[in-house]
Amino acid sequence: MTGLFITLEGGDGSGKSTQSALLATWLEENGQTVVLSREPGGTELGLELRDIILHRRGYIDPRAEALLYAADRAHNIATKVRPALERGDVVLQDRYIDSSVAYQGAGRVLDPTEVRDVSFWATEGLLPDLTILLDLDERVSQERLKDRTKYDRLEEEKQEFHARVRAGYLELAAAEPERFLVLQATDSVETLAAVIRERVAELLAGASTEQPQ
Ligand code: TMP
Repeated sequence: MTGLFITLEGGDGSGKSTQSALLATWLEENGQTVVLSREPGGTELGLELRDIILHRRGYIDPRAEALLYAADRAHNIATKVRPALERGDVVLQDRYIDSSVAYQGAGRVLDPTEVRDVSFWATEGLLPDLTILLDLDERVSQERLKDRTKYDRLEEEKQEFHARVRAGYLELAAAEPERFLVLQATDSVETLAAVIRERVAELLAGASTEQPQ
């Protein structure tokens, strides 16, 4: 595959969509074709699953929840992300496997390795070239979201849940320092965008010097 797969991770309100939009503009100005995606909900089927996962009232068993995210992911990767990468595009995706390991693993206290393995099966082991983690204290995250009138099922969870999610993310990043770029989400939008651009420029330079297989 010749494209680049970049994912953005972090708690709610950490600024992923702002950074994704800025990076997309910069990439396009530099001649790249960008495909924006997100999980859950990157495809039509995914939008229906997103509605079920996030807005269905009532209890959903944690394993059922993990499988619904994995189903969305399987379809998104097979029908949208892999074809884009095969064309040589840059895929910028809001959330991926690391969200499942952090939210369903650390947050819902399922075995993180099992959660990851389900997603590996779902995606035939596709890993991002770069994962940008916008790290944010869960109290700041809640403060940033406080004016929302509607919360989804995950956002409604208690602060301890979000503290576990944050710790889960940091553990993942520590285990794979090559893949992760960890940033402080409280830095200014411009500072974050500049650091991200620098890292992506390096990746693009590396990709263009790689020999075709
Ligand atoms: P968002 O698209 O607005 O960020 O909302 C998605 C929510 O779903 C967010 O609270 C994180 C959560 N989530 C998981 O719990 N597991 C996952 O695998 C993914 C992709 C998202």
